[in-house]
Amino acid sequence: MPPRMLLCCLALALSGVAQTAPAGTAAFERIKLEAGAKLFDADCRRCHGTEATDKSYGPVLDGIIGRKSGSAPGYAYSSALSEAGIVWTEPALVAWMADNQGLIPGTKMRHVGITDPVEAEFILTYLRSVQPK
Ligand code: HEC
Repeated sequence: MPPRMLLCCLALALSGVAQTAPAGTAAFERIKLEAGAKLFDADCRRCHGTEATDKSYGPVLDGIIGRKSGSAPGYAYSSALSEAGIVWTEPALVAWMADNQGLIPGTKMRHVGITDPVEAEFILTYLRSVQPK
């Protein structure tokens, strides 16, 4: 099975688990983190690093939750993003993953279209785990 399909099955299985298992158990969080890391690698990593020293096409995303938009030091943002003046709260990140061009028209990030709330929650779980060193 291609990895992408495997992830979809995992996501489906887990969305079932999410309704029955007590939320926030350590095992469940670990599974979410693993799934989120895989989704991040598949959908975001080619343009985004998670270490301050990473040089990628997109800005570094360590500590993105709670960070002001357009504020990664030394990154050449589009004027749309540098002037957006928002804070990357979790709901803002979910909206961005679903429709970045709709949230901040004129951004140079290509549309990624993560509209599945389970996938978005997995990626958020991963982003919560990457903090500046
Ligand atoms: C094809 C390359 C590409 C992919 C894939 C991509 N991004 Fe981006 N991303 C960018 C670029 C380029 C920017 C800067 C946009 C600008 O300046 O307008 C950006 C900006 C961002 C920002 C704003 C950062 C800040 O400092 O304000 C966030 C958050 C973000 N991306 C998250 C993601 C997530 C999460 C994914 C995966 C679901 C993803 N991106 C996939 C290229 C990409």
